[in-house]
Amino acid sequence: MTPFLSEENLFWRDKAREIADKFVRPIAAKYDQAQEYPWEVKEALAEAGLLGVWIPKEYGGSEAGVLSMCLVVEELSKACGAVGVAFAVNALGSFPIILGGTEEQKRHYLPLIASGQKLIAFGLSEKFAGSDAGSLRTRAEKTEKGWRINGEKKWTTNGGIAEVYSVFAVTDPESQRARISAFIVETGDPGFSITKIEDKMGIRAVPVVELDFENCEIPEDRLLGGKTGQGFKHAMMTLDRARPGVAGQGVGLAQGALDYAAVYANRRKQFGQAIGGFQMIQGMLADMSARVEAARYLVYAAARNIDMGAANISKLAAQAKLIATDTAMSVSTDAVQIFGGYGYMKDYPIEKFMRDAKITQIYEGTNQVQRMVIARNILKEARDLKQLEEYFPTEIQRDVDPADVR
Ligand code: CAA
Repeated sequence: MTPFLSEENLFWRDKAREIADKFVRPIAAKYDQAQEYPWEVKEALAEAGLLGVWIPKEYGGSEAGVLSMCLVVEELSKACGAVGVAFAVNALGSFPIILGGTEEQKRHYLPLIASGQKLIAFGLSEKFAGSDAGSLRTRAEKTEKGWRINGEKKWTTNGGIAEVYSVFAVTDPESQRARISAFIVETGDPGFSITKIEDKMGIRAVPVVELDFENCEIPEDRLLGGKTGQGFKHAMMTLDRARPGVAGQGVGLAQGALDYAAVYANRRKQFGQAIGGFQMIQGMLADMSARVEAARYLVYAAARNIDMGAANISKLAAQAKLIATDTAMSVSTDAVQIFGGYGYMKDYPIEKFMRDAKITQIYEGTNQVQRMVIARNILKEARDLKQLEEYFPTEIQRDVDPADVR
């Protein structure tokens, strides 16, 4: 037990660290260059039981929580950011089933994910619905036998290698509050296909694809939770729990880049001494390390709150994602700077950290969206700060109705 991590957390972190050292770091550059999925790493993760860390015990997982999931992502991302997200995206894809699935759906799908027999992906974003996820257009219509889906999805991580997809579609276009429902789609469902595999700047060892649904027919029991109109809420609840995973990826990338930069600073000689002896480099390393620690403990706090069942987790999850991924970007950029000309070349592993870090500021909600979530929560919470009201002139109170602030 450490002040922040339980024996169980440490157990999963150490398992992930072992796999990262043995299987991930040695192959990171190769799969990045080839833009291919490292199946042997996935097998090692499955064998170690890591693919069921966040899944409840009754459905084949180890129920070790979001914090253990974040620790695994952090360790893997220290070695390779792409492997970090290749792991974490299975949590993103399966949270809708854990949170909103029927008992039958949980019993059928979760053990397959936990054991690594099947990978899962999350289909929310579309070409015209990125940050504004609620404006998605993919349509699901009731048929006699089940549901017919038409439309497309964009930026689906794990797409093509996953065999199960949590897919969000419009079932009631007229409704304001219950427009969207979630479905489970499987590879091989008629009318479902992968239409584009993206060529990416970073996280190249995991596929990101477009999904296409052309009169895709799925049976009745694939409607998540057996109820329509719950889709947007389930997507948001899922993101609240998955964003700390991206934050864990950010911490791992930042720590991994810092470790390489510190080793380089000890070894690289200029002006007759190791560059680590220069105060400007020391200042950079000190700032990088302080930022990584601050991000790390915010991520652990967010994840711990989720595991404890705290009431409002959106703000903390968004704060962790914002701080940790901005840290990943700044620390990996500084690490390249410390490596100088060598850092810019692919001979060294450091430029990959910078490329992998960039997407963490974008996916699972851009950091602008995280700021939106945080600010909305702060303004809502401020309505309860009644003790401050007497310090405001009455005319200001009259002019602004706090309920108008969205
Ligand atoms: N939990 C539960 N319900 C929530 C919620 C939450 N965290 N957030 C919002 N809701 C509910 C609201 O209560 C509201 O319900 P009512 O209508 O019943 O009142 C409803 O959802 C609509 O809420 P908002 O008005 O706040 O919604 P909005 O349209 O303003 O959007 C947003 C809010 C935060 C911007 C949201 O659209 C969002 O998170 N956007 C980013 C999407 C995103 O993260 N996409 C990434 C997809 S995954 C990916 O990156 C690819 C990958 O494979 C890794």
